[in-house]
Amino acid sequence: MKSENYSILFVCLGNICRSPLAEGIMKHILNKKNINNIIVKSCGTESYHIGQKADKRAIMIGLKHNIDITSHIASRFKHSYFNEFNKIYVMDNDVYEEVAKFSIDKKKMENVHFLMDVVFPNKKIEIPDPYYGGYDEFEKVFNMINIACEKLSLQLI
Ligand code: 4NP
Repeated sequence: MKSENYSILFVCLGNICRSPLAEGIMKHILNKKNINNIIVKSCGTESYHIGQKADKRAIMIGLKHNIDITSHIASRFKHSYFNEFNKIYVMDNDVYEEVAKFSIDKKKMENVHFLMDVVFPNKKIEIPDPYYGGYDEFEKVFNMINIACEKLSLQLI
């Protein structure tokens, strides 16, 4: 088991679709496994949606799987998160590049990984932006994130 207060941050662009789902899914999995010493948060690299609730489609797909993200409020990445979180997981290459812009010291990027690298190491597989897609895209994204979070939870035990 990871030490007290191990912390994980999920990052996407808007913090209304992918990363709130990742936060909700991860908390749900950890809760089921009675793991309660891990801090899980999400944020976005862009500011457009700060203060907003998660996208309705993300909320719907979450609820379908018994995961409630209705109280999520979107927030933006901060430079201090490099120090506050043990691991930072990004959804795609654009997000990786945006996070890199926040890091003056490139060493900070050592703890930043593609979320799907948990399943397929070093492949840099992207979890696609579902915002302009339909419900099918949200299902696909949900399934990818769920597989990655299940695997991640095993690494934390
Ligand atoms: P997310 O999806 O990064 O998974 O929250 C997006 C939400 C909004 C936008 C792009 C992606 N947008 O362009 O407003």
